[in-house]
Amino acid sequence: MPTIGIVVILGGLILYLLIPMFEENLIQSKKENLQELNNLAISLVSDYNHRVILGELTLTEAQQRALNRLQELRYGPVNSDYFWVQTLQPMMLMHPYRPDLVGKDVSDEQDFNGTKIFIEFNKLIQQNGDGFLEYKWQLRENPNQFGRKLSYVKLYEPWGWVIGNGLYLDDLDKTLGMVRRGTYGVIVILLVFIGIWSSFTIWRTQQAEKKRQVALFALASSEAQLSTLFDSAVQFIALLDTQGKVLKVNQTALSFINRNAQDVIGCYFWETDWFNVDPIIMSKIKNCVERCAEGEFVQIEFVNYGYKDRQIYMDGSFKPIFSSKQKVNAILVEGRDITQRIIAEQEIQKQLSQLNALHQIDLAINSGSSLVEIIKVIFDQIENLYKFDGLSIWRFDRASLQLINLLDRGFKKSWKEAKLEIGEGLAGQVALDKKILYCSDREWLSQPDMEFIKTEGFADFAGFPLISHGEVEGVLEVFQNTEINMEAKDWQFLDVIAGQAAIALDNAALVTNLQRSNILLSQSYDLTLEGWAKALELRDKETEDHSRRLINMTVQLCQKMGMEKDEILHVRRGAILHDIGKMGIPDEILLKSGPLTPEEWKIMKAHPVYAFNLLSPIPFLREALDIPYCHHEWWNGLGYPRGIQGEQIPLAARIFSVIDVWDALSHDRPYRKAWDDEKVKNHILNLSGKQFDPQVVEQFMDLLGDINNKSR
Ligand code: C2E
Ligand code: SIN
Ligand code: SIN
Ligand code: FE
Ligand code: FE
Repeated sequence: MPTIGIVVILGGLILYLLIPMFEENLIQSKKENLQELNNLAISLVSDYNHRVILGELTLTEAQQRALNRLQELRYGPVNSDYFWVQTLQPMMLMHPYRPDLVGKDVSDEQDFNGTKIFIEFNKLIQQNGDGFLEYKWQLRENPNQFGRKLSYVKLYEPWGWVIGNGLYLDDLDKTLGMVRRGTYGVIVILLVFIGIWSSFTIWRTQQAEKKRQVALFALASSEAQLSTLFDSAVQFIALLDTQGKVLKVNQTALSFINRNAQDVIGCYFWETDWFNVDPIIMSKIKNCVERCAEGEFVQIEFVNYGYKDRQIYMDGSFKPIFSSKQKVNAILVEGRDITQRIIAEQEIQKQLSQLNALHQIDLAINSGSSLVEIIKVIFDQIENLYKFDGLSIWRFDRASLQLINLLDRGFKKSWKEAKLEIGEGLAGQVALDKKILYCSDREWLSQPDMEFIKTEGFADFAGFPLISHGEVEGVLEVFQNTEINMEAKDWQFLDVIAGQAAIALDNAALVTNLQRSNILLSQSYDLTLEGWAKALELRDKETEDHSRRLINMTVQLCQKMGMEKDEILHVRRGAILHDIGKMGIPDEILLKSGPLTPEEWKIMKAHPVYAFNLLSPIPFLREALDIPYCHHEWWNGLGYPRGIQGEQIPLAARIFSVIDVWDALSHDRPYRKAWDDEKVKNHILNLSGKQFDPQVVEQFMDLLGDINNKSR
């Protein structure tokens, strides 16, 4: 707008000030020109008058000659401008182009406006002796048209003549018209240019504004995403100032302590409810905050502390956030509750040790060691796992129908070779009842026949009957100076050991029956394995039913495909343990409700390798490794972890992978809902020859058909 204003004002100035000034100037110079020419004519006339005075010519002669000379005179751009002479009457004395007027009174002659110009000329003469007049007069070349004309008249007094000369202002008008038109043109061009330019500028500004809006929107939505992420993160996230006071904290962290944001914001981080349960942990956290405020990236791992009535494990980090000047501005704390994972891991460790214990005992029994040697191994393994203070084993002697002490450990007075009747003492009672007996807190001391044990100072007792073929072979006893504090699983495990001890005793009596022992042993292995896998299923939110179905289907399909019995035993174990490697996958990934990021996938895809690392050190599980290690390999080589293909993939894994996918898709997962049967079937058929061995898929479809028929 201002630019347009300036152009308009400038144009106005040119048109209404400069051009009129220019015109004025031009007219002024033309007027001077006319005056000079007129003076010339006057001097010519006065020359003739001079000759009259000298007596060379008569007045009439002189006047006639002067008129003749003036009639001939021309000037102007095309040499056609002329002089005329009139009297004060007014009468026309000479006019080169209007002979019709000569000798006539011209008082009534009018111009195209109706002005009686000759009267006007004479008025000018009467006032000043000369003067200029503008009027409209016929054109020389075409008398029917008229043009602006400017004329000058001056009186030659001696003869009473008025001599006039003029010029047409058309040329001037033409020039000025051109200047005017030029000015208009320039203004229009300027305005058009300004219009285009300003439209372009406006368009550009709008474009920039649009971009800014888009950027703003993106920012707003990324902020919204960020805050959603912040609040829905599985981790605990908090932002602290450099003093360690809480600025911001996410919902996950708040839920853990069952508090609102305003309860903790502004408080010192270590004094909040997350940590104020334990002075040691408080000072540890305070130290982390202080180090981080100095610019250090502090990580803490497996911090273990009592939280209210439970033990928790935490992983976390303190990240300094720097200002542009390399000064710490704030502290970002991130933490997660890894208790579940640690407990599951501890559980695995324990199961692993138990498994190893069973294996050691198994080896001792199968290596043909003496009974006492075997019992020593049993004692060693029990001591490795538990903190009992006394162990003792009694053998039922069928000849005397008495219990005879075979071996004991941790007693002040050895009971070796001692004898008890069935029903007598603790061991006798266990043998009689054929049930586990637990006596706590010395309560058993008040019973009869206990005198002999008082001196030992044990507090708790547990006795396990050693039963083989439904018959009592002996009793295993454990004593502890403090309370025996075991979970159901431990009782079960000790019972399994008791079973092995019974086999050992039975074997000693009947060395032949080795095969049976093996079956029993492998049953106890599998029991332990299942317990192990259960620890994982607890985390993966799978049901017991589901894994049993998975294992049974696998065994059935293996049988259908003609696999040997021995091999199927390993397949069974492999199927039980197939996802044991997921133990190493953090909860945030394993339990994530949405799709995995590439980063998370990398971790997830390591689960078969974790399984390999976990299981390969255990000799008797080596043959069961195929499934845990290879169940995500694809027939076309596009699977993981190794990308092997076709028959490079062990058959067990090829079989299992179909059932794993069938089973996974048929059930809810944290990351998606279950599919219906038809969809699952089509999916598997589609991937035949890609993900799956086509032969396995064929047999699997057959098997599904069989099952459906049976259930109908
Ligand atoms: P999983 O849930 O036991 O699934 C086992 C296999 O079944 C998968 O191996 C895949 O071959 C098949 N499967 C399961 N669900 C689907 C599905 O929705 N679509 C298709 N096309 N196939 C499916 P995969 O893909 O190697 O995954 C291995 C493990 O990784 C899964 O075991 C699961 O624990 C985890 N996982 C896979 N995708 C996601 C996901 O999107 N989110 C989360 N949180 N975990 C995932
Ligand atoms: C004339 O010009 O003929 C009369 C006056 C004039 O010629 O301008
Ligand atoms: C023992 O059991 O070790 C001796 C005490 C008893 O069983 O009566
Ligand atoms: Fe898997
Ligand atoms: Fe799986």
